Amino acid sequence: MSHLLFVETTGLGVQALAHAKRRGHTVTYLHCPLYDFTATPAQRREAVELADHTASFADPLDGEAVFGALLASGADPSGVDAVLSTLSYGAQAAADLGARIGARGTSPAGTLAARDKGECRRVLRESGVPSVGFRVVTDEAQALEAADAIGYPVIVKPVLGIGKAVTSIARDPAAVRAHFTAAAADRAGLTEGMARQLDERYLVEELVSGDLYSVEVAASEGRLVPLVCASRKVSRENPVLELGCTVPSGLPAADETALGDYAVEVCRALGLDLGIFHVEVMHTPSGFRLIEVNPRLTGGSLPDTISSVAGVDVFGLLVDLFLGAPLPDGPLPLDGAASHSFLAAPEKSTVPGTLPEDWFAPFLGRLHSGYARVRPGDVVPPMRTNFDSFAMLRALAPTPAAAEAACRAVKADIESLFGFPLLAEQTRTPAPLA
Ligand SMILES: Nc1ncnc2c1ncn2[C@@H]1O[C@H](COP(=O)(O)OP(=O)(O)OP(=O)(O)O)[C@@H](O)[C@H]1O
Ligand SMILES: [Mg+2]
Repeated sequence: MSHLLFVETTGLGVQALAHAKRRGHTVTYLHCPLYDFTATPAQRREAVELADHTASFADPLDGEAVFGALLASGADPSGVDAVLSTLSYGAQAAADLGARIGARGTSPAGTLAARDKGECRRVLRESGVPSVGFRVVTDEAQALEAADAIGYPVIVKPVLGIGKAVTSIARDPAAVRAHFTAAAADRAGLTEGMARQLDERYLVEELVSGDLYSVEVAASEGRLVPLVCASRKVSRENPVLELGCTVPSGLPAADETALGDYAVEVCRALGLDLGIFHVEVMHTPSGFRLIEVNPRLTGGSLPDTISSVAGVDVFGLLVDLFLGAPLPDGPLPLDGAASHSFLAAPEKSTVPGTLPEDWFAPFLGRLHSGYARVRPGDVVPPMRTNFDSFAMLRALAPTPAAAEAACRAVKADIESLFGFPLLAEQTRTPAPLA
C-alpha cells in the first residue's frame, strides 16, 4: 500500500481521496482555509474525514508553512510516495513539497513554467511550438506600447491569473487604459485567495479568434498521452467567460488528433512530466494556438462530465498514475456524448421569492445530473469570474450537438421561470453539412 499526500483539493477532487482510500492507501490532506470557496463545506468535511492525517496551512506560496503542516499532521514525510493537488492554487505547493521530501510529483520547474503565462509563452517560442505574440508588462504605459507592437485586438491578463480574474479584451488604447484604471478595484473585489496568487505582472497578448477546446494530457515515465478533448462553451457577450464543456469535442477525427498532438507538444516543451494537465487551445484559422496550461487536472465540472461517458473515474486514473500505474495507450474511448452548462447572470438579479423551495427538482428530472445553489429570493451576482455561476446542468446524448441542445432547452425554461436573462452561451461552430 502507498501513501498519498494531497495539498488541497477541488470539491469534485474529493473523489481522488475516496479512490485512494478504497484502494487501501494512506491519505494525508493538507487544507488551506483561503480556498474554502472552491468547494462546499460538506466536500471539505468529507476530505478531512477520509484522510488519515490532516492539518492546515495559511498560504500555499509559503513552502515552510506547507511543510510545517505536513509535520503537524503527524504523517511521516519519508513514508509519502506521491504528492499532488487537484486545485490550481495548490499545484505549485504540491510540486515543491514532493521534490522537497523526495516523493513522486510533478516537476516544480514544469509547474512554474505552466503557471507563469509569460514564461510559458517564452518556452513555446524557444521550442518552436506555434503560439501567439505576447509581452509581459507591469503598468499601463508598457501595456500600451506592447499592444501597439503586437497589434489590436489584444487581451490583458494577469501573468499568474486563475479563474478569469482581472482579464480584459482591448480593441483600442482606451480599453487598455480602462483595464488599468479598473484593475485596482477589480483586485480589491476578488476573494482573498484569488488576489493572493497575483503579482504585478500582466501579459498583453494577441487576441486570437476561433472555437475554444481543452485537452487533458496525461504524463508519466517519459510518455505523454492526450486523454480527452472537450469543446468549451463561452459567453456570447464576453468570450472570456466560460459557460460549460462538451465531450467528445465534435471535431473531425483528424483535427482532434492534431489538437491532441499539439497539446502534448506544449506539455513536453514545458517539462510537465507526471500527472494530468489541462491544456486550453483555440482553433484559429492558422491552426491550434495555446491559450494556457493548468498544471493539474481540469477543474470545474469537466472531470465528472468526462467520467460519465468514459466509463472510468478520471480521479481514480489520476491517483493511480501518481502511484506509478502505466499510462493508457491513447485517448479514452467514450460511449456517447456529455455536455454541461453553467448558469450565470450578466447583471445582478433576484431569483423570484414566490418559487417553491424545490424549484430545481423538475429540471433535474430532465437531466443526467446537475445542481443549483440558489433559493427563492436569493440575489445572484453578475458573472465576473468562474466562481459566480450558481447552477450546473449536465445532459448525456448520443451526439455532442444533442447533449448541448438538451442543456440549452432546460436553461431556456429556467430563464423563463426566473424572469431575468442568463448569460447566453456560444458553442463551437458546427461543421458544414457534407
Ligand atoms: N490570446 C487569447 N486569444 C483569445 N482569447 C483568449 C486569449 N487568452 C485568453 N483568452 C480567453 O480568455 C479566457 C481566460 O484566459 P485564461 O484561460 O488564460 O485565464 P484564466 O483566468 O487562467 O482562466 P481559468 O483559470 O478559468 O482557466 C480564455 O478561456 C479565453 O476564452
Ligand atoms: Mg483558462
